[in-house]
Amino acid sequence: MPVRLLQHPLAAHILTHLRDRTTKPALFRNLSYQLSLILALEATRDLETVEKQIETPLAPHTGRVLARSLVVVPILRAGLGMVQPFQDIFPDISVGYIGLERDHETAEARSYYCKLPPVADTRTIVVDPMLATGGSAAKALSLVKDNGASDVSLVCILGSPEGVETVSRAHPEVPIILGVLDESLNANKYIVPGLGDFGDRLYGTHA
Ligand code: PRP
Ligand code: URA
Repeated sequence: MPVRLLQHPLAAHILTHLRDRTTKPALFRNLSYQLSLILALEATRDLETVEKQIETPLAPHTGRVLARSLVVVPILRAGLGMVQPFQDIFPDISVGYIGLERDHETAEARSYYCKLPPVADTRTIVVDPMLATGGSAAKALSLVKDNGASDVSLVCILGSPEGVETVSRAHPEVPIILGVLDESLNANKYIVPGLGDFGDRLYGTHA
């Protein structure tokens, strides 16, 4: 499944400020919200709709409404920063949670929490700002699929070629929607040029 990248000048503008090391947590949260809103629109441009008959004040009209429910699943903790924009444009969305944390030595994702709503017959969107080795995303996608999700997408702010490769190999049918695809990973498996540790910058913590 091809990767879809945001093609909007506003996205590039927001990303530059997100990457800037002098951007403080309050602005970082605000910029994450704005970029996630653009990603939410991009990730849902192909949602199915069905006809609905209504009456405008002037005439009967056949409109279209969304056909199926939407579930958003943030990977804790950094993915939490991407949930509110989805809820703001899709107020009826259900939210599930998957807790994964990378081991600082091995960069392997360890699962510590999973609470999902019913996901069968929904569009399930896994959100995590950073797709580095792809280990966390691949594990989260397996968890939602094991729970019955069959129409699944992955939405990330920054990706690496290695992360895209890992997820595409494990889940070839899952579309990946990215803000931007960066060049590489460094020796510590951080995205380069990247923006550093997203969770730490979002929540003002330092490892
Ligand atoms: C970050 C990020 C992803 C993961 C990406 O989370 O939010 O979940 O790393 O790395 P990967 O593609 O190599 O698996 P982290 O483990 O730092 O936890 P946090 O969100 O709690 O800070
Ligand atoms: N997690 C982050 O927060 N940043 C990276 O560059 C890689 C993993």
